[in-house]
Amino acid sequence: MSGNHAPSRLGVGFVGSGFNARFHMQAFQAVRDADVRGVWSPNLEHASSAAALARSLDIGTAKAYASIRDMVADPSIDALWLTGPNHSRLENMEEIVHAVESGVGRLRGIACEKPLARNVAEAKRMVALMQRCGIAHGYLENQVFAPQIIAGRTRLWARGAASSGRPYLARASEEHSGPHAPWFWRGELQGGGVLNDMMCHSVLLVRHLLTQPGAARTSLRPVRITGHIASLKWARAPYAAQLTAAFGREVDYTKRPSEDFASVTIEFETPDGQLLIGEASTSWSFVGPGLRLSAELLGPEYSMSWNTLNSGLNLFFSREVRGASGEDLVEKQNAEVGSMPVVASEAAAYGYENEDRHFVRAFLGKEEPQLTFDDGLEVVSLLMAAYQSAELGRTLDFPPPGLDAFVPAVAQGAWKAR
Ligand SMILES: NC(=O)c1ccc[n+]([C@@H]2O[C@H](COP(=O)([O-])OP(=O)(O)OC[C@H]3O[C@@H](n4cnc5c(N)ncnc54)[C@H](O)[C@@H]3O)[C@@H](O)[C@H]2O)c1
Repeated sequence: MSGNHAPSRLGVGFVGSGFNARFHMQAFQAVRDADVRGVWSPNLEHASSAAALARSLDIGTAKAYASIRDMVADPSIDALWLTGPNHSRLENMEEIVHAVESGVGRLRGIACEKPLARNVAEAKRMVALMQRCGIAHGYLENQVFAPQIIAGRTRLWARGAASSGRPYLARASEEHSGPHAPWFWRGELQGGGVLNDMMCHSVLLVRHLLTQPGAARTSLRPVRITGHIASLKWARAPYAAQLTAAFGREVDYTKRPSEDFASVTIEFETPDGQLLIGEASTSWSFVGPGLRLSAELLGPEYSMSWNTLNSGLNLFFSREVRGASGEDLVEKQNAEVGSMPVVASEAAAYGYENEDRHFVRAFLGKEEPQLTFDDGLEVVSLLMAAYQSAELGRTLDFPPPGLDAFVPAVAQGAWKAR
């Protein structure tokens, strides 16, 4: 428990062994004071394979555990990184808290991937569970830790805002051609479509950019929100058939589509009554080289822009080059020929390295966590208000009535693409 004498190195256990856990493992190569010592996943073979990856990266003597409780009980595990699918978040958290409350283990921290939960009621339950066990917590939002976001935001505020006034408009966008695993496409499991899956990054990023460094995130108050969702590509018959062929009959976008495009405009109020705008859009219907994260911050005499596909490295392959499709150039890569940007170190570029280093230090007691489950709850609240606005077709004051009990039509399987 947190009252224990702080260890000098943090022993980390992963719940979940998929795409995201493996991304974090790449990032842990750049973290000096932590060891990845465990993985639990319902499929022991998958957990063992992720543990083997950790050992091969030389980031710790990781082993697979038969249960979450067993992993928590091991005194070499000091902190957990929750990277299971969205629909298992609460059950994972409940199992952890039961273990802690029954007196096993000595956890110092729990870090949870985005989104904290699928709706406000679940997110509040996550926060309540966390409070019950009195352990430090972190909300994993990598984009806030992306090196170029840190460098751009710091300099822009220090030079531009200091001499000409605070920024007034932030834009953020995350786009790719669609997720890699079937559960993401199923509204009832994932909690929604792309708005839930990727807007969680963008709503936090715009708020972060507009917030003065050093000031609390709550210094900007969201006052109005406008959301818009659409299925632009994947509900079209040939593409819906492609999804079913790739992911099984449970993914049927002719009957139960999720949105593959979402936009949100948030109006924020500063403590002295100024109005600021955060504008975000996300998409699973973007066909470009691969994943594109972008952001802008604009003020009276300055601006910044970030685009991960402007990576500084382009490779060209003529039409004579043949090979298997892969993701060796960029995440969610769509092509292997022509001029292709390469993101050379994705775990660094997308912010995972700084993020994991920060939360390790926070759980070792060296820093205050920059993002906690409370931030995760606030993000979920904004997302649910955006769905509410999209369903009603109008701008809403934030927080709108009924937010706590709201479940998006997409998550209920009741949304119609047209
Ligand atoms: N920060 C980011 O940019 C980012 C990127 C990808 C995913 N994520 C988030 O990370 C989480 C995992 O996504 P992913 O892409 O790794 O998905 P994935 O499908 O690739 O992997 C999910 C893993 O969870 C395991 N699992 C299945 N049932 C489980 C259960 N009941 N309890 C715990 N684990 C279980 C699976 O075996 C698998 O190892 C999601 O919440 C997702 O939103 C974040």
